[in-house]
Amino acid sequence: MERPIVIAGNWKMHLGIAGGRAFLDDFVPRLAGLPDRSRLTVLLAPNLTLLAPLADACGAADIRLAAQNCHPADAGAFTGETSVAMIRETGAGMVLVGHSERRQFFGDTDDFVRDKLRAVLNGGLEPILCVGETLAEREAGQAAAVVSRQLESALDGLPAAVDLMIAYEPVWAIGTGRTATPDDAGEMHVHIRNELCRLLPAIAARLPILYGGSVKPDNAAEIMSREDIDGVLVGGASLAPASFAAIAAAAPVSPGHHA
Ligand code: 13P
Repeated sequence: MERPIVIAGNWKMHLGIAGGRAFLDDFVPRLAGLPDRSRLTVLLAPNLTLLAPLADACGAADIRLAAQNCHPADAGAFTGETSVAMIRETGAGMVLVGHSERRQFFGDTDDFVRDKLRAVLNGGLEPILCVGETLAEREAGQAAAVVSRQLESALDGLPAAVDLMIAYEPVWAIGTGRTATPDDAGEMHVHIRNELCRLLPAIAARLPILYGGSVKPDNAAEIMSREDIDGVLVGGASLAPASFAAIAAAAPVSPGHHA
């Protein structure tokens, strides 16, 4: 099963509309200059305020747009929140769900993440489910169990055919300059693939599993060389066009890779 290689940028709470437009002006020609992007899916998750303003330029450059969060309800008295239908109206096609910063700082529980993921799918958009253990959990030998719990909670009982991506982001590697070793990341990705085979057997082989956590131009190629690492979810290094383009250029494109 040939999976795409996904190069995803999560801008978090950086870059406004002018900054986002300036980014694309610089980044799009760099992307167009790659020798082969036929297997690459490039996506950006900018701040909500940028989704509509950037939708046309992203569409023209074959860059998918994702929201960073959503609320699971269709509508209601939820001040400051955004429904999936509102996100779809902007032109964005994807939503990050369960990012560790949401789980850590905004109280997103496994149950709330599960509700959001279902709302995204019911609304016709594609979720990127983020999972990952904290440092304390890894040091206690619980990394695999934590990731299994997060996956099972979010994915158990889904219909057989859905489009979604998984991002494995060990919390201790996010924004710290500490990356998981390719061996540790590779091992966890194999674990995630096995869990997907258990939870969603009909589609497990085609779901991209991205790695996130201090991905930079100089470590991206090695990370993406691993079986079952189908791309990267990049925070800090996605904010500069040159470094995000360098990460895209590091993606393995040779036929047969990640077969
Ligand atoms: P950094 O690449 O800045 O570590 O962030 C990773 C991340 O959280 C992407 O969602």
